[in-house]
Amino acid sequence: MRLDTAALQASSMTQGHTGSGERVESRIRFFDFHPTTADVRAEVLEGLSQPHKRLPPKLFYDQQGSRLFDAITELPEYYPTRTEIQILRDHGEAMAEQLGRGCVLIELGSGSSLKIQTLLAALRPRVYIPVDISRAHLLESAQALAERFPELSIRAACADYSGPFELPLEPEWRDLAAFFPGSSIGNFDPDEARAFLKRVGRVLGPGGRLLIGVDLKKERAVLEAAYNDAQGVTAAFNLNLLTRLNSELGADFEVDAFRHRAVFNEDASRIEMHLVSRGNQRVRVAGQVFDVRLGESIHTENSYKYGIEDFQRLARSAGFVSEQVWTDAGELFSVHCLRVEDA
Ligand code: AVJ
Repeated sequence: MRLDTAALQASSMTQGHTGSGERVESRIRFFDFHPTTADVRAEVLEGLSQPHKRLPPKLFYDQQGSRLFDAITELPEYYPTRTEIQILRDHGEAMAEQLGRGCVLIELGSGSSLKIQTLLAALRPRVYIPVDISRAHLLESAQALAERFPELSIRAACADYSGPFELPLEPEWRDLAAFFPGSSIGNFDPDEARAFLKRVGRVLGPGGRLLIGVDLKKERAVLEAAYNDAQGVTAAFNLNLLTRLNSELGADFEVDAFRHRAVFNEDASRIEMHLVSRGNQRVRVAGQVFDVRLGESIHTENSYKYGIEDFQRLARSAGFVSEQVWTDAGELFSVHCLRVEDA
């Protein structure tokens, strides 16, 4: 996970001019580990060849998808973002203390880098490393952040953290901390989540802290409303995946021939999102043909919901000690501070 030579040679960011021009750009370095179109194609073909067709949720986040996701976070039904931000605001000082002021701060899935802003003043990291799969969104956000925090040094890494990933770290850096907000951990099956947490633990090293947001299990009605908003933004977000495959892989999905479906699978404790076919259809994707039956679905996302103790148990099984947990009064959402167990 150390920075390799290829990464070291990655260019500093040169594009775009902002108010403070050079000054801002000299504080941002950009590292591109973005998956190639060939990677995307291989994963899509693999997913569509399964008996139950599926597509990985990371594919939601092209430029349009990232915009739609930002719109989701502002919906009245979508409680996680605003609840987590409130928890971060209420306990930012305590969190900064746990993470360690002046640390090297890695954020996984940084998106618009809004949440981190609640911690930056208290935390004053020596360097901030936002990691996100959405390249344009990452660059824009890093630039805006550099404008707002003139002291902050930034190394933005465009990467897919769902598998093994690289980070632009210097070998002499100590005091690494990670921030993984939003309950994106919920996209992984529990086994994948454990493997992911172990990887993060190895990057951080013994004693390293992880601040992680985890959505809590709750009534079906509240969960299902959050993923079936009245304005149809979540539906548009889900369907945009097909639009993306049409433009990026030359697929010929008829987007209107699918509908959005989100349900809480209580046995598995997860929201499932699907794209359900409105008819029998044949689709071409990267030269391959797939038949989709009326009512058949393409499974696009899982969003696991945890009890606090369930999540702490999972973290423990991945080599973390649970140091602290914060929630809102309504116990909708939780933010955990975990520490990598000593070797
Ligand atoms: C970014 C994965 C946390 O699961 O709630 C929001 C994505 N999908 N609405 C979530 C999402 C549909 C979100 N995560």
